[in-house]
Amino acid sequence: MSASLVDPRLQGRALKRVAFTTDQIRGRVRELGADISAAYPDGDLLVLGLLKGSFILVSDLVREISRPLQVDFLVVSSYGNDMVSSGTVRMVYDAQAVLKGKHILLVEDIVDSGRTLSMVITVLQEREPASIEVCALLDKHLSTFLEHPPRFVGFDAPNEFLVGYGLDHAENFRHLPYIASLQ
Ligand code: PRP
Repeated sequence: MSASLVDPRLQGRALKRVAFTTDQIRGRVRELGADISAAYPDGDLLVLGLLKGSFILVSDLVREISRPLQVDFLVVSSYGNDMVSSGTVRMVYDAQAVLKGKHILLVEDIVDSGRTLSMVITVLQEREPASIEVCALLDKHLSTFLEHPPRFVGFDAPNEFLVGYGLDHAENFRHLPYIASLQ
């Protein structure tokens, strides 16, 4: 689908521009799935989605990974209804899966300041996984302190407030099939 700036899903809000179209995302997710499949020849793979933003990416991505895996989720939140991070990351819901000895692939929709990833990786490392890697659809490359930068990145993201394909503003626009910046 080609993205339109006049879209009934936008509740009258104007988009500044479409950053990544539905077709671009679909193609890149397919490539990420192939890269991830090749990167894990052995062992137990647990795909851990960081909710809510990654819910669409996880469902598309796991269907492009051609090896056994399990899926679980964490809910963390930092932005509330604001357009800038609150600076505090809260674990709202913890994964139920056992992580010990497994390869963990954390799936994130976007890396902005990197605070969310830092906090989550610190917590997960204490559970003695075999490895932890990150797949992020979008990376703004703003973080200078990330010890664990994403190994799998969909797109380098512009430093704009992006919505769609899981990303929200005040919980709206997550269901857009493309990624756009707001006015
Ligand atoms: C957003 C986004 C990332 C995080 C990135 O989540 O989904 O998880 O912020 O920002 P950071 O790199 O500055 O930490 P948010 O806290 O808005 O929750 P959500 O996933 O429910 O949208």
